[in-house]
Amino acid sequence: MDLMNTGVDGLDEMLEGGIPAGHITAFLGSPGTGKSTFALQFIYAGLKKGENCIYLSLEESEENIVKTASMFGWDLKPYITNQKLVLIRLSAMNIKVTVGRVENDLPKLFRSSGVKRLAIDPITLFEMMYDAESERRERLFDLAEKMREYGVTAYMTSETNNNNSFSSKYGLLEYIADGVITLRQIRPSDLRAVTTVVEVSKMRRVDHSRDIKPYVITKNGIVVHSEAEIFS
Ligand SMILES: Nc1ncnc2c1ncn2[C@@H]1O[C@H](COP(=O)(O)OP(=O)(O)OP(=O)(O)O)[C@@H](O)[C@H]1O
Ligand SMILES: [Mg+2]
Repeated sequence: MDLMNTGVDGLDEMLEGGIPAGHITAFLGSPGTGKSTFALQFIYAGLKKGENCIYLSLEESEENIVKTASMFGWDLKPYITNQKLVLIRLSAMNIKVTVGRVENDLPKLFRSSGVKRLAIDPITLFEMMYDAESERRERLFDLAEKMREYGVTAYMTSETNNNNSFSSKYGLLEYIADGVITLRQIRPSDLRAVTTVVEVSKMRRVDHSRDIKPYVITKNGIVVHSEAEIFS
């Protein structure tokens, strides 16, 4: 099986090496848990290997993404210049245009440039564009099919459901995705500091770890402490 590294060593360890190529992985987490950072780190890991990548943001401008990456020491500019990285910013305000670009332009890019890695950050805003559950399901399913057709390995980040930190906002993504990685904040009873923890809730065809591991966002990106144990 061809494995893609996540760019986070401790997470690769939890996954027995990485994510199977062609998988769609959902990153679920409450605000500020590091979903965008995990996604950016995954894309940067691909760029360093010479892979063609797309980072599609529904929240941040291209400029801000470049700025954020540079704060972690990741220089995206040369990759944008030589077209190894396509940064796409879509507006959640212009629903029609956004849907069209996701559903038509993205597959065109898959076809023309042999895209290996894709991050959609967050997919929640795409899901929100459909009021009817059946349509949302169908559109998300179609999008996933397109990625599978072209063998793209994708991250889709998602907000969690207000009542359930293990479920995406609409409870749909985790069924469509091949993998689900859940990010959570844990507040110890002694009220000292919040700990962020990661777990692999699902990864098809991988004998992954079931452990809950702490991680930190450092100035060099995310570090998962795969050797540490959490008791809480
Ligand atoms: N340079 C940095 N060094 C250390 N920690 C950082 C740095 N930049 C960001 N962080 C931490 O990362 C958090 C934001 O991470 P990120 O944007 O990836 O989260 P997110 O889950 O995508 O959030 P949102 O739900 O708002 O999209 C910040 O709240 C901060 O704690
Ligand atoms: Mg984010």
